[in-house]
Amino acid sequence: MTHLRFRPDFAVNYTDLGAGHPTVVLLHGFPFTSGLWRPQLTALSRQHRVIAPDFRGFGESSLPDGRYALADLADDIAGLLDALSIGGAVLAGLSMGGYVAFEIFRRHRDVVRALILADTRPDPDTPEGRENRLRTAELAHSDGSAAVAEQLLPKLLSPWTRAQERDVERELRDMMESVAPPALEAALMAMADRADSRPLLHRIDVPTLVIVGADDQLTSPDEVRAWSQRIPGARLRVIDRAGHVSNLEQPAAFNEAVLEFLAGPGREGGG
Ligand code: MLT
Repeated sequence: MTHLRFRPDFAVNYTDLGAGHPTVVLLHGFPFTSGLWRPQLTALSRQHRVIAPDFRGFGESSLPDGRYALADLADDIAGLLDALSIGGAVLAGLSMGGYVAFEIFRRHRDVVRALILADTRPDPDTPEGRENRLRTAELAHSDGSAAVAEQLLPKLLSPWTRAQERDVERELRDMMESVAPPALEAALMAMADRADSRPLLHRIDVPTLVIVGADDQLTSPDEVRAWSQRIPGARLRVIDRAGHVSNLEQPAAFNEAVLEFLAGPGREGGG
């Protein structure tokens, strides 16, 4: 784990493993940390340089004062790549990490060599979704991170994971409870205000792999199939026995899909 200090009150923590091309940047979902990518850090770093940052306020990254937008998270990642002299990378984002990947594509197109978009969506929040976010932010404020974890967990995992992989549920719960309420509130507000990335889809001109758990309740396979078809040439992989956290629920299938994609034509260069 290493820190990059942007300002006196703000440092981004990241893990940097492996050496091969292309570099892969793993962008975690909400309300997790870079620890979400534990199985990918091990498997992908055998062949690739892998960078897994913690977003503002999550894991070991600090939370600067005041509100931020998802565009700021995109700028943090572009700043990190610049500081590490990485001219281009494959961005892999799960859910909120996918929202940030879209934002990086919009703001820093030059650093994006390919996209892996898992269990995510390009749409902004509906009015109802926004209301739910505000209620969750209130819950974080009044009852703390454990209450938020309790509310979210039933929606995150496939029936198979819940029955067979109790360790995954425990690992996720621990991760969620480790995040301080102000970080949850700030991220919820940033997601509630996120831009509509649907107009971006047909302009995505880098190789793109879209992944979704077959039992994802939050971003359903039907929904994901529909938007992924609007990205020219995008491939879709549906992972059985996985819900919204497909990378942790079915790491072998997830890693296989990612490694196969990374080995594809045109993905060998870029820093
Ligand atoms: C996530 O996993 O990052 C969340 O489901 C994103 C969201 O709340 O929209």
